Amino acid sequence: MARIPDAFIDDLLARSDLVEIIGSRVPLKRQGREYSARCPFHDERSPSFTVSPTKQFYHCFGCGAHGTAISFLMNYDRLEFIDAVEELAKRVGMEVPKDTQVRNENPDGKDQYAALDAAARFFQKQLESSDKARSYFDRRGVDAENRARFMLGYAPDSFDGLKNALGTDERRLALLEKTGMFSRSDSGRVYDKFRDRVMFPIHDRRGRVIAFGGRVLDKEDGPKYLNSPETPLFHKGRELYGLWQVRQAHAKIPRLIVVEGYMDVVALFQYGITQAVATLGTATTPDHAELLFRNAADVYFCFDGDRAGRGAAWKAVESILPRMRDGRQAFFLFLPEGEDPDSIVRQEGSAGFDARLNEATSLSEFFFNELSRDVNLNSLEGKARLAERVKPYIANIPDGAFRDLMQQRVTELTGVGARAEPAPAARTPSMRPSRGSPAPKQSLVRAAISFLLLDPSLARAMEPPYLFGVLRQPGIPLLVEMIAIAQERPGIGTGAMLEHFEGREEEAALRKLAAMDLPGDASTRKEEFLDALRQLDKQTRMQRIEELQLKGNLGDLEKAELRDLLNSRNR
Ligand code: UTP
Ligand code: MN
Repeated sequence: MARIPDAFIDDLLARSDLVEIIGSRVPLKRQGREYSARCPFHDERSPSFTVSPTKQFYHCFGCGAHGTAISFLMNYDRLEFIDAVEELAKRVGMEVPKDTQVRNENPDGKDQYAALDAAARFFQKQLESSDKARSYFDRRGVDAENRARFMLGYAPDSFDGLKNALGTDERRLALLEKTGMFSRSDSGRVYDKFRDRVMFPIHDRRGRVIAFGGRVLDKEDGPKYLNSPETPLFHKGRELYGLWQVRQAHAKIPRLIVVEGYMDVVALFQYGITQAVATLGTATTPDHAELLFRNAADVYFCFDGDRAGRGAAWKAVESILPRMRDGRQAFFLFLPEGEDPDSIVRQEGSAGFDARLNEATSLSEFFFNELSRDVNLNSLEGKARLAERVKPYIANIPDGAFRDLMQQRVTELTGVGARAEPAPAARTPSMRPSRGSPAPKQSLVRAAISFLLLDPSLARAMEPPYLFGVLRQPGIPLLVEMIAIAQERPGIGTGAMLEHFEGREEEAALRKLAAMDLPGDASTRKEEFLDALRQLDKQTRMQRIEELQLKGNLGDLEKAELRDLLNSRNR
């Protein structure tokens, strides 16, 4: 998969006007050097969303949303990465490097989409002319509007219905095979994969058909559902059935309801609940979690109430915890034995289903219930065990109020952690935080990191040699890494630098630093930055002196080195 070169992205971001891009979608108010607005990614009354033209990035103090022009377009316009890049490039008249344009497609990608679209239409036609298939959907109460909305169809009871209708030449045959529409016998004969099944086309985020699910009409006929295999266009762990239809039904999606089956989605729509999506016979993956929260702040997961359902719910928990930025909420709805959303909404109507959603279990409640299931919280041992168990999960939650509250709950349940708060991310004395309380004193390393993050071009002012790379202090490896990035990518801005650390341990701390203002003008900043580095070099020399003095019994070279170091220290 060809990647777009970092240098191109840096250049693109540097030339794009973030204020204009965001401002054309969200009303922005000027506030000094920055702009603010009510956050488009979560509901709020007072504006905590800020856009910094100099840093080329946006940040929400409320929900933690942040990023560059690219991530804004991905999240707000719900574009894929490559499409967001192309959109920006178009605006500033840049050409995306040729060989990377079709990053997630293959040479005949366009034709594969066309082949699948033709297949979906073929199945729709077949549904019109099949009495038994139409009466199947009649029986299940799917009306014409929803048959059309989901492009439901019927694959005829034949080994070559689709093949004869669409595989008119070698190339078309090959395309249909590539998209998973055929099976191949041991003798190499190619035949229709889906036979005598009602068909559910699966759409991607842009509304293109990328795969199918097919259900038998009668119970005894092979596996109940047959799905397209993984193909270049279809990766089931990344797609959600129904998401395209949900998007078509809402300008702003109020919530998403995750169910297990195709028919659950269709039935909920049929009853006016047009926010349902289904995972495709898989557990909820991290990709799903990202996709869900990118589309709605509130996500409801529906599962069977049995053991298997609880297991599936726990899988979902593991996938969503790292995505629980402030402002996002997840709930779990467990259904009675033997029921599914389809059967419930038919029995209880949309009001009944809504009522169940309103009583759904919150993520935190489910989380603590599950982890303390076999723990006796009345004993010290039990409390200790629970405290141990939750640790890795809580460590995965993004920095923010939700994580703090989860930690607080651990303390309430176990008494563990009821001590002084960990020190908040420190700040440079000379730096004014954009919000919040006065800054505590911070280390040199932190200061250097802040300067470099807020103005990566400072790395160009550095002159070798620098010694501080071997200094044993927290933050040094990070500083060294940032310097390397800034020097390698001369056009890089704050936003892109942050993105480099996306998903890493350092991300949260960097994000906080990035929200601060740089004092002074370009030349004083440069001086302060270089001065911090000089001090670090000095500390490195001290470290080496101590090392040599402690070692004793030095060789000649080491003796000379120590003499030099002591001389330069005294100078
Ligand atoms: P269910 O067996 O719960 O079926 O499978 P359902 O959705 O209630 O279907 P109806 O109501 O009988 O029509 C849930 C989901 O699991 C996947 C499908 O995605 C299905 O929608 N599945 C199930 C398969 O992929 N293959 C199967 O054989 C069965
Ligand atoms: Mn069902």
